[in-house]
Amino acid sequence: MPLKDRLKSFVLRRGRLTSNQSRALSEHWDKYILDNEEKLSNIWNQDPSILDIGFGSGETTAYLAKTNPEMLILGAEVYLSGIGSLLSKANEESLNNIKILNSDIVPFLEDKVSDNCFDLILMFYPDPWPKRKHHKRRLLQKDFIDLVNKKLKQNGIFYFKTDWVHYFDETKKLVNNDINWRVLQKENLKEYLVNLPKTSFEMKALQAKRKLNELILQKTC
Ligand SMILES: C[S@@+](CC[C@H](N)C(=O)[O-])C[C@H]1O[C@@H](n2cnc3c(N)ncnc32)[C@H](O)[C@@H]1O
Repeated sequence: MPLKDRLKSFVLRRGRLTSNQSRALSEHWDKYILDNEEKLSNIWNQDPSILDIGFGSGETTAYLAKTNPEMLILGAEVYLSGIGSLLSKANEESLNNIKILNSDIVPFLEDKVSDNCFDLILMFYPDPWPKRKHHKRRLLQKDFIDLVNKKLKQNGIFYFKTDWVHYFDETKKLVNNDINWRVLQKENLKEYLVNLPKTSFEMKALQAKRKLNELILQKTC
């Protein structure tokens, strides 16, 4: 059974939108959102590219676009409030190299993206689903990690951050001794990845005195 039919990593709730988010959604939707096949097919002309999975309010996505104008930055998020925030930033800073997917990343990766496609895939502070009965909702499980590996180019990087130590430990176990990955240290990364801005989720974790954990994996084959 495809992963998209087995993995539901979010529960969509009707969140409140600020007036800024609502305005950004109505004014900039057409420019940035990949909501039809034609728009989607046009993005693959740009190379190289980064995918930011579950971008939240889009602080990282906007920063990546600003620091890498020659790259395509693709962000995926299911919540309209976060998308509104990113649209507003993208417009304010005239960022023309961002495209946004307002949908579940799993069927997108399974069905719409060819293999060996991204230089970098980021997943920062994915929902930890801390209760044991909900662990099956975590995005980072074996099949998803294999899917990410397939979609990266050779030597492409998967960068994962979490403040949930159990999620971190379980993910490390999944890739331990996996010949498809090699673990990198932060010193191996390009400068723009070392100086990433702190997102609101990261700030909350720091305020709660939770440790921030990072795993940087490079696709070997
Ligand atoms: C805790 S937030 C982290 C946001 C951001 N990466 C950061 O570092 O601030 C996780 C985000 O992942 C999004 N998300 C969860 N499952 C997703 C999926 N299957 N596809 C796309 N986004 C998803 C959620 O809506 C949420 O905004």
